[in-house]
Amino acid sequence: MAKGGNLYVCQACGGAHPKWSGRCDSCGAWNTLVEEIAADGAPRPTARGPKRRLALAPLDGPVQGPERRPTGIGELDRVTGGGLVAGSALLIAGDPGIGKSTLLLQAAASLAQTAAVVYISGEEAIDQLRLRAGRLGLRTAPVQLAATAAVDDIAATLDAPQPPQVVIVDSVQTLFTGDLDSAPGTVAQVRASAQVLIRLAKRHGFVLLLVGHVTKEGMIAGPKVLEHMVDTVLYFEGERGHPFRIVRAVKNRFGPTDEIGVFEMTDAGLREVANPSALFLAEREHDVSGSAVFAGMEGSRPVLVEIQALIAPTGFATPRRAVVGWDAARLAMLLAVLEARCGMSFATADVFLNVAGGFRVAEPAADLAVAAAVASAALARPLPAETVVFGEIGLSGEVRAVTRADARLKEAAKLGFAGAIVPSRRAPGAPAGLRLSEISHVGDLLALLRQTADEGGGRRAERRPRHG
Ligand code: TYD
Ligand code: MG
Repeated sequence: MAKGGNLYVCQACGGAHPKWSGRCDSCGAWNTLVEEIAADGAPRPTARGPKRRLALAPLDGPVQGPERRPTGIGELDRVTGGGLVAGSALLIAGDPGIGKSTLLLQAAASLAQTAAVVYISGEEAIDQLRLRAGRLGLRTAPVQLAATAAVDDIAATLDAPQPPQVVIVDSVQTLFTGDLDSAPGTVAQVRASAQVLIRLAKRHGFVLLLVGHVTKEGMIAGPKVLEHMVDTVLYFEGERGHPFRIVRAVKNRFGPTDEIGVFEMTDAGLREVANPSALFLAEREHDVSGSAVFAGMEGSRPVLVEIQALIAPTGFATPRRAVVGWDAARLAMLLAVLEARCGMSFATADVFLNVAGGFRVAEPAADLAVAAAVASAALARPLPAETVVFGEIGLSGEVRAVTRADARLKEAAKLGFAGAIVPSRRAPGAPAGLRLSEISHVGDLLALLRQTADEGGGRRAERRPRHG
């Protein structure tokens, strides 16, 4: 099967085999053999040769930051750390149909104003690309197009005396190289094809942007098998039904990994969203139970999102816990804390949690906001009006301090919020105009909820569920 002495290498133990088999003879693992191209005649790293004495360098020496090429799309520059680095490879991964091709065509058009840009599509024909560009109002951008999936042809084209400065390849799953017998889309083809392009990018110093579809199974031939090969991995997230799209860096050799770029999908392509909080809170209903506004941080930028909880009597022996946009295990932990430390009971209740707008929250600082939404739903009492919440909750119910409290409060004040429920242990100083409720235990949160309702601040519960 293998051409020219290709090897099948076990991804678990590294054992090399001349023939494919379902089980690795060396370590016994199943389905781990992947075809790899033998490097013909190239010296192996272990080959013996004249030894060289290395000149060691001090840690404290002059540094030169990488040369960056801003894309002209602010939100994209933000996630990449200020622009694309010459000679680097980026992988843009996301669900099919989320908007990867749209974003990259927009980026290509913007970059083409200052650089030679080539856009190669293995998925769409030139006509389709032109139609899309027309729809985006980018028909006149000097982007060079090619529609092919043959990596060998792409390599021959790029391996020119005057290579382009930016190369976009959409998508890696369609690529194939004649050096391997396996079908396009297999792990071996995806990796071998990407390797050829990445090597070219390093040699010629162009920026390589690879598109990768996230497969439902997650792993197989998806972006995961490429993550270690590229310099930067960006995930393009969002819900199909929502217009918001978030670009998140999960790996970045040249910048931070906690920044996000926020876009809105419109009829004319992706539009940058400079103030995500306002967008995520746009459809919020005021003064309802089961809703809390979390003042979160995404990298250097505060983002306010609404967290919604719904509690309903269960019809099942095992009650349901459904979570969208947050960690399900973390919700289970919070429910346990509310039960053990505050005497609430969710044993006969289904609990649904939703981060509004299709946003994903990963911070532990959201604990208190989630607990507030859940407790507010369970007690059928709204939180104090126009109040943001943040804080981490420990297993004994204690509310812990979180980072960047000042930035979170400032953003809340900027957006017109009147109060904040915050951990009592935090750096002093709140923006003027914000009423702070400092709490040290989740029990204080429940007391606050009950007090708000008794003051008549919120709508009284028409029907109080038995759990609560
Ligand atoms: P696309 O970029 O093709 O997704 P991907 O490359 O990640 O598979 O985007 C596809 C979706 O975006 C498609 O359902 C239509 C929508 N879309 C818009 O809403 N507005 C636009 O201007 C464009 C070009 C696409
Ligand atoms: Mg596409």
